[in-house]
This record gives sequence, structure tokens and C-alpha cells, in this order.
Amino acid sequence: MENFLAQLREDAAACETHIKALLAAVPEPAAQLHEAMAYAVLNGGKRMRAALVFGAARMAVGQDADAAPSEAMLRTAAAIEFLHAYSLVHDDLPAMDNAATRRGQPSCHIKFDESTAILAGDALQTMAFEILADPRTHADAAVRIQLVATLAKAAGLQGMAGGQMLDLQAETRQFDLAETQQMQMMKTGALLSCAVVCGGIVGAAPPDMRAAQAAFAQDLGLAFQIADDLLDYAGDASVMGKPSGQDADRGKAGFVALMGVDAARRTAQRMIDDANATLAPWQNTAHYMQNLATFAITRNS
Ligand code: IPE
Ligand code: IPE
Ligand code: MG
Ligand code: MG
Ligand code: MG
Repeated sequence: MENFLAQLREDAAACETHIKALLAAVPEPAAQLHEAMAYAVLNGGKRMRAALVFGAARMAVGQDADAAPSEAMLRTAAAIEFLHAYSLVHDDLPAMDNAATRRGQPSCHIKFDESTAILAGDALQTMAFEILADPRTHADAAVRIQLVATLAKAAGLQGMAGGQMLDLQAETRQFDLAETQQMQMMKTGALLSCAVVCGGIVGAAPPDMRAAQAAFAQDLGLAFQIADDLLDYAGDASVMGKPSGQDADRGKAGFVALMGVDAARRTAQRMIDDANATLAPWQNTAHYMQNLATFAITRNS
């Protein structure tokens, strides 16, 4: 696990360096928007989605966990982290979760203002697609279209944005377990799954590996949000760098509210066991992904 955490830190640093370079390459007539985007995407974060891109792609090309990520992997990982950063900026807005802190710092709308935060989210999202559509991401236009389409689907009506809509509705109406599961899969699972699937696309994974990685990612995505809800319930806000207790205050549906802490923990663990079993046939190259899955439910931030 120690090696794994060191590798995760290294991957996060590689992704971060690349994000900085991508932002630096854009001229900035609207300096405040540029600053707010950089603030939102460069303020720490575990970089789980970036690590999942690297892990899935390394698996596909048969590389060790410590292989340096290629430019295609770095750009794809950065694009997904841009999209994720946008989702957090908008999630924290007063009209959504009204959260004053994120990653241990004032949320984007507190540091700047609401209109700047809305625009920063908008521009972070479009920049994600700009990065994927650029020939430097992949020489083959068909591959680029696959990446763009995969991220678009994960971010939109059927994915993150749709899930966030359901999440808000869950404050005013009782959701059952099936509805809660669907909401969690959409708001969080979709983008985590997208990271794994895009890693497979970049690494040109064969069909059997792609199917296994997609199944792995589904379980991982849901378990990740259950862990997030458990942290909201019992985590330390100063370690998490964001408020705790928000879900209960708002009467938000989640696995913890529906089934209690112990059952939610067991459910998340079962999903991660299933996820990791799915990758068992690739025992030489799947360790990093399996460690990421375990990390998704054992993290404290
Ligand atoms: C938080 O995601 C929001 C959810 C989708 C649950 P992360 O826990 O991955 O946040 P960072 O990127 O590490 O800050
Ligand atoms: C966020 O879920 C999901 C997103 C799409 C951003 P939460 O609202 O639970 O995420 P945190 O706890 O604020 O990070
Ligand atoms: Mg939310
Ligand atoms: Mg939130
Ligand atoms: Mg949460």
C-alpha cells in the first residue's frame, strides 16, 4: 500500500504539471477567469480520475504501474480533471450545496464571486473538450471522437449533470434504494467510469479488457460515492478540506441515510471486492487499478 500511495502521488504530480502547462499555453485576455480556473483545477485533489486513466491505459499496453504516462494519457487525464473541477465549482455554489470550502481552501465562489465561479466552471468544461479534440491528444481522429463522446455522455444529461439534478430532487422527496443508486452512479460514477474507459481507449485495450474495465469502473464509481457519503457523515472536515454533515442537514438521500453506516460500509466493500475480482485475469498489470479501488473506500479525504 505504501508503494501504491507513492505512485498515486507521483501520478497526481505528473497530471498537475501537465494541467499547469495546458493553462499556461492559453493567452488570457480575461485574466480573472483564467485565475479562477487555475484556482479551481490546481488546488490539490486526489487526482483519482487521472490515476484511473493512467492505470487503465498502462494495463492496456502491458506497462508496469510506475511507467511514465504518455502525452495522450496526460492530456486525457487532464481533460477529465478539468471537467471534474468544473463539477466541484458548480456543486459548491449557493444554489447547489452552498459549501464554503473545497480542498482545504475557500470555494471558488468565495475566493472570487458567484458569477466568476459560474464562468470558470463553464470554461473548465469546454477546455476539457478542447484538449481531447486536439490532435496532440491522439493522431487518429476516430479515437479523439471516441474520447470526446465518452466524456460528453458521462458529463451530461445521462451522467454527472443529470445525477446532480436528481441529487437536488432528493432533498425534497424520499428516494428509494434503486433511485439513490441511480443518482449516485450518474453524479459520480459516470465520470469515474469515464476515466477508466478513456484510459482503455487511449491504450487501445482489447474488447475483453475493455468490458472488464467498464464493469470494474461501475462498481468503483458507486462505491466511491458511498465512501463520500460516509465521510460526509463521520469524516473530519479539516482532513477532507470540505464541510461535513451537509447531507444530513439537508435530508439528502444517500446510502448512509437509507441503510445506516454499517450496511453502507459493507455494501461499498462488497462492490470493491467485485470490482477487483473482475480484473483478476490480468493479475500482472491490474494491481494499481485494484489498489485504486481499495483506496476509493479507505481514504479519509
Ligand atoms: C469529490 O470528488 C466529489 C465527488 C464526486 C464525490 P473527489 O473526492 O475525487 O475530490 P478531489 O478531486 O479529490 O478533491
Ligand atoms: C458531488 O457530490 C458530485 C459532483 C458531481 C460534484 P457531493 O456534493 O457529495 O460532493 P462533495 O461532497 O461536495 O465533494
Ligand atoms: Mg452535491
Ligand atoms: Mg457537495
Ligand atoms: Mg459529498
